[in-house]
Amino acid sequence: MPQNLFNGLLAGQKALVTGANSGIGTAIAKSLAKAGASVVVNFVTEEDKAEEVVNAINTNGGEAIALYADVSNEEQVHIMFRKMFETYGTIDILINNAGIQQDAPFQDMTLAQWNRVLSVNLTGQFLCAREAVREFLRRGQNTQTSSALGKIICISSVHDTIPWAGHVNYAVSKAGISMLIKTMAQELGPQHIRVNSISPGAIKTPINTAAWNTPETEDALLQLIPYGRIGHAEEIGKMAVWLASDESDYVTGATFYVDGGMMLYPGFRTGG
Ligand code: BGC
Repeated sequence: MPQNLFNGLLAGQKALVTGANSGIGTAIAKSLAKAGASVVVNFVTEEDKAEEVVNAINTNGGEAIALYADVSNEEQVHIMFRKMFETYGTIDILINNAGIQQDAPFQDMTLAQWNRVLSVNLTGQFLCAREAVREFLRRGQNTQTSSALGKIICISSVHDTIPWAGHVNYAVSKAGISMLIKTMAQELGPQHIRVNSISPGAIKTPINTAAWNTPETEDALLQLIPYGRIGHAEEIGKMAVWLASDESDYVTGATFYVDGGMMLYPGFRTGG
């Protein structure tokens, strides 16, 4: 793929990426900026890392600012969007990426762990999507920047479909995103708002370090990936740019699995 395939594809568009101070969020923020979008790098912890992402984007000729908000907090989300509009005027692209894991065997999972993961991973996506949709509808269409009124891309997981022992709160939150995007896409299609999700498999990021940082765990993980390697966050960034651009204008309510084949029941290569 030529390096500059996405150059200018998102020129003039304003994007917000939640949880952009690490992992997949950082890679998406950088990819969108490379494609010409102005980017809000949201964070709730590790402000220094968010500032590093902003600096990296700005020194590479892009445009970014960092904004604080816990996406599960309605008021903080509201304030973050106001601040974004003060700086960039509006929003064209929302990347609902912020997500956490708090794992426990089913019988030991506390209500606090259940609620926290659902609040960030699912309610947080609802709260940010609602603010974005309100602004898309208020602003109306700008045909100079996009054929759509606005685009929302929710970062989910292969665990929207694959059950995951010891992670019931996480898997349920991701399954909820599947219905969130489909219902939103059905409801908001007539207004030309596109809503899609990306479901990554095993991508090398801080959230899953324990799954690949010893030869034994890495080997066990690779057994689950027919394509034979762990993914890179930039590979999710490329999919996000395409979904945010007019190149995917007829795509809505869809989930894209970027997972090296993790969804293909790899156990059945030899079993069954
Ligand atoms: C999780 C990772 C995990 C991957 C594949 C992702 O949603 O965040 O921790 O490695 O799914 O199981």
